[in-house]
Amino acid sequence: MRLIIYTGKGGTGKTVTSSSTAIALAENNHHTLLISSDPAHTLGDAFMMPDIGYEPRQVIPNLEVLQVDPVVEMNKQYSTILSYAASILSSKGIDETLAYEIAMLPGMTQLFSLLKIEEVVRIKAFDALVLDMPASGEALRYLYFPKLIGSIGRKLTGLAGMFGSFAKIFQPLSKIPLPSQGVLKSEGEFLDRLDFLSEIIRNQEITSIRLVINPDTFSIENAKRALMSASLYGINVDLAIINKIMPPGSPDQYYAEWANFQKRKVEEAKANFYPLPLTEIGLYNTELRGVEMLRKNAKFMFRDTDPFEIFYRGKAFTFISNNSTLQMKVKVPFSEKDDFDVERYGDQLTIKVKNPIGYLVNIIPLPTATIGMKLVKAKLEGDELAVFFQRNA
Ligand SMILES: Nc1ncnc2c1ncn2[C@@H]1O[C@H](COP(=O)(O)OP(=O)(O)OP(=O)(O)O)[C@@H](O)[C@H]1O
Ligand SMILES: [Mg+2]
Repeated sequence: MRLIIYTGKGGTGKTVTSSSTAIALAENNHHTLLISSDPAHTLGDAFMMPDIGYEPRQVIPNLEVLQVDPVVEMNKQYSTILSYAASILSSKGIDETLAYEIAMLPGMTQLFSLLKIEEVVRIKAFDALVLDMPASGEALRYLYFPKLIGSIGRKLTGLAGMFGSFAKIFQPLSKIPLPSQGVLKSEGEFLDRLDFLSEIIRNQEITSIRLVINPDTFSIENAKRALMSASLYGINVDLAIINKIMPPGSPDQYYAEWANFQKRKVEEAKANFYPLPLTEIGLYNTELRGVEMLRKNAKFMFRDTDPFEIFYRGKAFTFISNNSTLQMKVKVPFSEKDDFDVERYGDQLTIKVKNPIGYLVNIIPLPTATIGMKLVKAKLEGDELAVFFQRNA
């Protein structure tokens, strides 16, 4: 079983890349489901089939696709808990409609899309799942959500448990309703599902994140941060796809300049995402959509390989931390013989390496935990750069 998750900055081509991958998987004989949590219609636009909706629909043999409806998913599991949380808020005098808004934590809709995955994995209906996630930064947080909510929930013997004991103490004084058996039961099930989901996502033999990048500074920086966060959360990233690269050789100066700029960005990305495999995809002369074109695009992306493969195992970044120190290890494409220099600017680390044509600069995003820490040492250990941070006294 494989779960392949595509993320990247807005508009980079996540939906079309997910669709191409799903087609290739199906044609490699994997029974595949493609799930998108994008707003309605995006899969319909990509496949040029207007009737793709909230129910799985077969688009080619072996491939079913569906848009997740967060409202439906929420009603399946969370509605009892949500209405209880809302009833507490409204018993405190908060307008009921508003109470629902507040009880619905931020990011909940994405979480419900992920719960759909849990359901599909549990019933073992497919061999391969492709998930088209929204733009990076946020997406990564959602992927970590199950673990986070699961562990907090259990510590407090669950949300309802917490509200329940709170309610018992104060009930004589106020009008806080007690949670029903239904609430306690669905809350336990909800936490179990989150645990299972978190196991799937962090199992490197099942789940891979793939980054979709365009040859520009903004999307490269965004993807670098996603790669760092994924390592931090213990989720494997196995491929980066640089999409929409303009072809070189245009006689028109305007296009030639763009092609040149993008060529430099592709080189920069190669150094920055080392040792992650990187696939380059050109900008086609027309909008990429429809099964035929998506299939051709998959051929360019995967050539003779099966997208089911795990293209890379291992971490670009590793972290060891205790209360006052953090050690971060980064794989780097240079050795002791090279002349290099490491400096920190706020939440970024800059590594400059001298090469025959000048300096190659690699900017590495730092985890939030390093705020309030100082860089004490950076040393090269084989192909890894070990960077030590210490909490400010
Ligand atoms: N290599 C390409 N050549 C030509 N057009 C492309 C290419 N890749 C993507 N496109 C087009 O770019 C547009 C955006 O693609 P897509 O919707 O897949 O991006 P996205 O990352 O999913 O966007 P969003 O962040 O809004 O979900 C679409 O019109 C798509 O057909
Ligand atoms: Mg999309």
